[in-house]
Amino acid sequence: MSKGVSGFSKWTKSEKIRWIAEQYFADPNEGISIIERYWHADTTVQRLHDEFIENTITNYYLPFGVAPNFMINGQLLTIPMAIEESSVVAAASKSAKFWLERGGFQTEILKTLKSGQVHFTYSGDFLHLKQYFDFIQPELKKSIGAITSSMDKRGGGLQSIELIDKTEKLEHYYQLHATFDTVDAMGANFINSCLEKFAAVFKDSWTTFNPSQAEKYPVDVVMSILSNYAPECLVRASVSCPVSKLEVKGMSAQEFASKFCRAVRIAEVEPYRAVTHNKGIMNGVDAVVLATGNDFRAVEAGVHAYASRSGQYSSLTHAKIENGQFTFWMDIPLALGTVGGLTQLHPLVRLALEMLQNPDAKQLMSITAVAGLAQNFGAIGSLVTTGIQQGHMKMHLLNIANQLGADQKEKKQLVEHFKTDVVTPNAVRSVLQNIRNLDQ
Ligand code: MEV
Repeated sequence: MSKGVSGFSKWTKSEKIRWIAEQYFADPNEGISIIERYWHADTTVQRLHDEFIENTITNYYLPFGVAPNFMINGQLLTIPMAIEESSVVAAASKSAKFWLERGGFQTEILKTLKSGQVHFTYSGDFLHLKQYFDFIQPELKKSIGAITSSMDKRGGGLQSIELIDKTEKLEHYYQLHATFDTVDAMGANFINSCLEKFAAVFKDSWTTFNPSQAEKYPVDVVMSILSNYAPECLVRASVSCPVSKLEVKGMSAQEFASKFCRAVRIAEVEPYRAVTHNKGIMNGVDAVVLATGNDFRAVEAGVHAYASRSGQYSSLTHAKIENGQFTFWMDIPLALGTVGGLTQLHPLVRLALEMLQNPDAKQLMSITAVAGLAQNFGAIGSLVTTGIQQGHMKMHLLNIANQLGADQKEKKQLVEHFKTDVVTPNAVRSVLQNIRNLDQ
């Protein structure tokens, strides 16, 4: 059996790279040269990246694009997006322009609470536990004073703490369920620190509150952790205009509006479609979440759980036509921050936030939701008219050309040619071959 490597994290960067290259790459020198090509020339920037995580060997670049013309609650913004998928920024920009001419996007912050739980096991009488919880509650709140003082000053902090009986779901399972307002911070570290304090106080004081019960029935803390399910940190984004203003190429405004609403209804009732529909929304959401240094895994997990809250996975967006008015909207949980974490640390994140006029967390929730709604509008708009492939493959053309080793001049010719023709990898290959034959 092969032995694992030990002490790896303590090796120097070049020792790690050399070891990886020799272990795994057919051509170790070629591998090392690719790794080194992505190092940053500015050693301060590189050191920052090296220290974000353990065992950094190089940087993984994503394109950082911008989508202009987003009118959000009357403010005109250019949205930064970090994403690799070729058509996303183009689709966002197209939707932004479309809605700029029709009143723009509106948003409303519905709630801003986040939660976390101390999960524990207790096999005694619930009544004793409840009496103890009522007694200890003020002490629990006091115990986190040092952690929450600056959050309290900013108008946030602990909002509530409850004892919840979960024994119907799992034998002897209880929890302390706490809600927090973390203002402009995403607040994960803050919440986790508070929860761990609650856990320690709750467990320890039980032994002094009721020593005989505590000996027989101890409070056994299993874990204390925030929840990325954030249905109480919710923003609504919407667009609305008279149906008659929804003119698109090759279809009447009325037909477009009703096909659009029908497509959304399908995503509401059919999980196979809903997943792809919501994936398109997340194309926009994740790109902004990444560009602004937020945790896209947390957002993804929370959003999809929210999309399943009825018991069936469903569309996040909704659309209706009422009295000749088309309205398209989405409620989405977005636990985001504009202070703390990467936001002050990563120069590009700082720049992205500055581009957005240094939003607070609520404004960032609005902007991110709008990016998702715009993306979904663009995707459904294409799906119910031309189909998705026309625009998608046009944007993918340069990737195919790059894969085939086309130079700048050849790429220009390919773009010209495919203004009218359908893009497929084979078609691009054959047109490129023709260009090369003609050039010989
Ligand atoms: C592709 O990344 C996203 C779409 O599939 C979304 C959708 O189908 O609504 C185009």
